[in-house]
Amino acid sequence: MANTLPIVVIISGQGTNLQAIIDAVDSYNLPVSIEAVISNKAQAYGLERAKKAKIPTDVILYEDFQDRHQYDEELYKKIVSYSPQIILLAGYMRILGPKIVQGFKHRIINIHPSLLPLYPGLTTHQQVINNKDGLHGCSIHIVTEDLDSGPLIAQGIIKVDLTDTAETLKVKVAQAEHFLYPMVLNWLAHNRLKFVDDKIFFDSTQLPSNGLSFFVKQH
Ligand code: GRF
Repeated sequence: MANTLPIVVIISGQGTNLQAIIDAVDSYNLPVSIEAVISNKAQAYGLERAKKAKIPTDVILYEDFQDRHQYDEELYKKIVSYSPQIILLAGYMRILGPKIVQGFKHRIINIHPSLLPLYPGLTTHQQVINNKDGLHGCSIHIVTEDLDSGPLIAQGIIKVDLTDTAETLKVKVAQAEHFLYPMVLNWLAHNRLKFVDDKIFFDSTQLPSNGLSFFVKQH
């Protein structure tokens, strides 16, 4: 039996990925303990999801600090207070400062709604429609100081239909995310991922640059 992996989840919004993680930990008995959910938005619905699951919550508002440095200091201290081994970003809409990224090197994971390195940043679904891409999806990667560009652990790929819009793609990609994030968390909890510099190993095999790919069928 694997030891329980303590994690902290950081959010800004709806928290549907957080919910998928809470449900997976619960339904599949993942050896994971969600120590806290931290949000930079007081109204983030994900906070309600956490409270319902009896997970401690914290809100750290950027506006309450003089500058980015002080905000990051507070966030860093708060994370440390929960002693997590892994920090999952699940819809956290700010860039983490160097102190946090370096302080938790290889231990902060993010999910992004595109097949990185395509479309870092916002409006990914609309860019897929504009460019008439045939495939789209989500990526899970290690967080580095550059936005949406750390080493890739896994990608969930979906097919884009001619009738798709940015809105329908959002729904489809969310389904892929809710499948992929708990799966990667399970690998982490079972020590199946190892990080050495920019290289990622899965069960001792080095991953290709786009990580492990899964074609996610819609349901
Ligand atoms: C997801 O699309 C995720 O990829 C991105 O932000 C969105 C968060 O959604 N980073 P939710 O808050 O988990 O519902």
